[in-house]
Amino acid sequence: MSYQIETVKKLIQLREKARLGGGEKRIASQHQKGKYTARERIGMLLDGGSFEEFDMFVTHRCTNFGMEKETYLGDGVVTGYGTIEGRLVYVFAQDFTVFGGSLSESFAMKICKIMDQAMKMGAPVVGINDSGGARIQEGVNALAGYAEIFQRNILASGVIPQISAIFGPCAGGAVYSPALTDFNIMTKGTSYMFLTGPKVVKTVTGEDVTQEQLGGASVHATKSGVAHFAVDSEEDGLKLIRKLLSFLPQNNLEEAPLMSCNDPIDRLEDSLNEIIPDSPNKPYDMYEVIGAVVDNGDFLEVHRDFAANIIVGFARFNGVSVGIVANQPRILAGCLDNNASRKAARFVRFCDAFNIPIVTLVDVPGFLPGTQQEYGGIILHGAKLLYAYGEATVPKVTVTLRKSYGGAYCVMSSKHLRGDINYAWPTAEIAVMGPSGAIEVLYGKEIATVTDPTQLAAEKEAEYREAFANPYNAAKFGYIDDIIEPRNTRFRIIRALQQLASKKLVNPPKKHDNLPL
Ligand code: HXC
Repeated sequence: MSYQIETVKKLIQLREKARLGGGEKRIASQHQKGKYTARERIGMLLDGGSFEEFDMFVTHRCTNFGMEKETYLGDGVVTGYGTIEGRLVYVFAQDFTVFGGSLSESFAMKICKIMDQAMKMGAPVVGINDSGGARIQEGVNALAGYAEIFQRNILASGVIPQISAIFGPCAGGAVYSPALTDFNIMTKGTSYMFLTGPKVVKTVTGEDVTQEQLGGASVHATKSGVAHFAVDSEEDGLKLIRKLLSFLPQNNLEEAPLMSCNDPIDRLEDSLNEIIPDSPNKPYDMYEVIGAVVDNGDFLEVHRDFAANIIVGFARFNGVSVGIVANQPRILAGCLDNNASRKAARFVRFCDAFNIPIVTLVDVPGFLPGTQQEYGGIILHGAKLLYAYGEATVPKVTVTLRKSYGGAYCVMSSKHLRGDINYAWPTAEIAVMGPSGAIEVLYGKEIATVTDPTQLAAEKEAEYREAFANPYNAAKFGYIDDIIEPRNTRFRIIRALQQLASKKLVNPPKKHDNLPL
């Protein structure tokens, strides 16, 4: 055998060895836990045959605790690039079969390399997390590695989309890399994220809690908002990432891909002319409105189970990717509270950073009152949403369906926050507050003194409704551009977006803003 053939043979052997990660036994154990290996995950995520791996021969450099005797090619993380629907994407997947996917200095440098490359090319990064955290034997070098990744997450934020899948443990400071990225997807039952695990919690606070209760997918998808999506399986999670990326541009200098659209742009949706109940206190389902107006009813909801009083997600109008923000009258009457404000603010800022127009559907009776909200900082959280809408320079189309009261009127993409096109349905009520509250403030004392208070209250309420609980007053001042027939909403939104396609608006130069955090 010639020398060259021998070298090729050795290369093939080494590649095979690297592909085995921590070995067959540990791969089997990974499968037993209902989890896939790093390479299997990348294979399912990317277009078939598109993956090009980097740094397969990197090993750790640690000599503490006899570590030099145990090295694995690739050192516990698989990195490289490939395509999703033909578009370039960089990827890393932590390999739990090698030292429990724990992060060494070399491991971190592999991730940093693809992040740097992604920034140069202007392409998204997808990270698949499944790790025991900092590799204990490496001490501060592992911590340094994490911090190098965090720094890159920060610089990449708003430049390229960053998506994190959590398919196993993600604990300690390791959680901060996903937290810095744009979207977190967690698998139910097999993933968890927390700063300190159940044992430390027990020691410090005495609280008994399981991993799932402390940081499982359902906790983060419903209570903390850390997870944007909770999925039943890794397959579902990886498919979701492919779909999510289809709505996004490659970077902040590009537009999201334009898809072909077979849904007629002038489709009339008669059901919308009857969707608003006669009683202003009765809810209807905002999902029905969204489903009726977007292309083929296709809506990718973000944060579905967190702060359900506001709905955010991606859809298309005539093939153009948009971010939808909509109050949900079925939950808390669609009030804005702390979590809803945070959730929507983050989404609006994401859309604005990545040139995705925002369509806002308004039915909001105001901010949720009470000590719980005030103590929780509703002033600051509400200001975040206000800020997000006010600073956004992407096309902003707003449709007010029913209530739009008080501060919430200003916040929800109003004309005064540079809303480009603001439409209202004839059922819209745009006022400082709802009729009963207003009558109490204006005529409460007088009503209390008359012989028939109910009669007077009803009269005053009717007067108020006539004057304010309609869209015409706002339209009179040009704050509403047009009052539209509900069944024609899809067409009017599409026409608005077409008109706004060439929008150019630049905020004053500054180092960065001071968002009320
Ligand atoms: C080195 C580790 C490791 C780690 C796991 N392993 N975590 N090696 N450093 N952090 C190794 C184990 O020794 C084992 O090696 C293999 O990975 C699989 O681990 P198991 O414990 O057998 O697996 P499992 O029972 O599934 O438990 C998984 C686990 C547990 C829950 C993640 O391993 C664990 O608690 N690990 C420690 C987690 C932790 O406290 N990390 C530090 C967090 S603080 P063998 O050879 O047997 O296969 C942190 C700071 C980051 O990360 C700061 C950033 C700023």
